Amino acid sequence: MHLSTLALPLLAASVDAQLHKLAKQAGLKYFGAATDTPGFRERAGLEAAYEQYNAIRDDTNEFGQTTPTNGQKWLFTEPERGVFNFTEGDVVADIAENNGQILRCHALVWHSQLAPWVEQGTWTAEEVEQIIVDHITNVAGYYKGKCYAWDVVNEALEEDGSYRKSVFYNALGEDYIKLAFKTAAEVDPTAKLYYNDYNLESPSPKSRAAVNIVKMLQAEGIKIDGIGMQAHLVADRAATLDDQIAVIESYAATGVEVAYTELDVRLFTPNDEEKLALQKEVYRNSTGACVQTEACVGITLWDFYDPFSWVPYVFEGEGDALLWFEDFEKHPAYDGVVEALTNGTKPCKPGKGRGKGKGKGHKRSNKLF
Ligand SMILES: *[C@@H]1O[C@H](CO)[C@@H](O)[C@H](O)[C@H]1NC(C)=O
Ligand SMILES: *[C@@H]1O[C@H](CO)[C@@H](O)[C@H](O)[C@H]1NC(C)=O
Ligand SMILES: *[C@@H]1O[C@H](CO)[C@@H](O)[C@H](O)[C@H]1NC(C)=O
Repeated sequence: MHLSTLALPLLAASVDAQLHKLAKQAGLKYFGAATDTPGFRERAGLEAAYEQYNAIRDDTNEFGQTTPTNGQKWLFTEPERGVFNFTEGDVVADIAENNGQILRCHALVWHSQLAPWVEQGTWTAEEVEQIIVDHITNVAGYYKGKCYAWDVVNEALEEDGSYRKSVFYNALGEDYIKLAFKTAAEVDPTAKLYYNDYNLESPSPKSRAAVNIVKMLQAEGIKIDGIGMQAHLVADRAATLDDQIAVIESYAATGVEVAYTELDVRLFTPNDEEKLALQKEVYRNSTGACVQTEACVGITLWDFYDPFSWVPYVFEGEGDALLWFEDFEKHPAYDGVVEALTNGTKPCKPGKGRGKGKGKGHKRSNKLF
């Protein structure tokens, strides 16, 4: 009799969990969520939530993949020149390893959350080259073999498709991108190397510039494997399903894979039924675009629990961007994701008539279940 009362909560947790399981059945490699040392940099005072939070995060039926939201960024990994610290990055790398989850690693060269010493120094071009090479050699070297993918260069583009003026760009021009990918390929040859950015979810000057980065690297024989669409979306002005499919196809035409790397869909708080219904449709559209395109390998939420989201800290008055509310009730958007994951399977071959019946859908193999 004790047995049944004890077993119930465990059973309830695992029966509900399904996003990664369904994603695999739909032909994706993973459905995951980024995480951090809980409470470390997000809202404090939620220690009581950790147990429930961890149970969801560690359930591989729900999440088959994770990413450190912060711990592998330059600010934490090389806070002083030549001083490397992997304590924070290891928190999440260890979670992935213990759970048997795919690890996406994030991010090697980025202008933001950069250690102050890089930005405040006055460097020659040669010094900036050395700084990039040393950073990638040490950080990607330390995590070698553990990362399914690395976001090698993050947010190099402006909205009009021009390059962002960063400490890296100002010193080296677009050559810094080549150097970063070339170095990462040498240091960790098995990791998929990604260019990652926001507002890449519909065709635009920026999305075309991302395609040009891929082509520039390919023209020089430098390895690039993927484009990461961060997908920090806004419920009432998100890219449509059709636009997301179109932009993914434009990336896929260069031969690279594609992933949703930081998906969240924010709304103006307080939420109401209408806003949550719109959010559900946006989650369904993004998930649907990944399912309907051969090139899209997976989806990562930027955390999954609203109180641990970055959104309220950066966008005043906005929030509720993830799939679990503070009380651990699921958003209606959770069902939107499920609907898209159970609405069909990936096309078997790139370019084969999506939605035209023939050529659509893998045979479901037993091992997917
Ligand atoms: C490394 O980072 C951790 C976590 O941020 C910090 O507690 C620790 O003091 C750092 N180690 C060194 C040697 O600075
Ligand atoms: C979802 O995508 C469809 C098809 O492209 C579009 O008509 C609809 O407006 C999108 N919904 C939202 C909320 O963006
Ligand atoms: C669901 O499948 C239909 C038929 O293939 C497709 O037209 C529709 O866009 C899909 N919806 C989503 C959200 O992926």
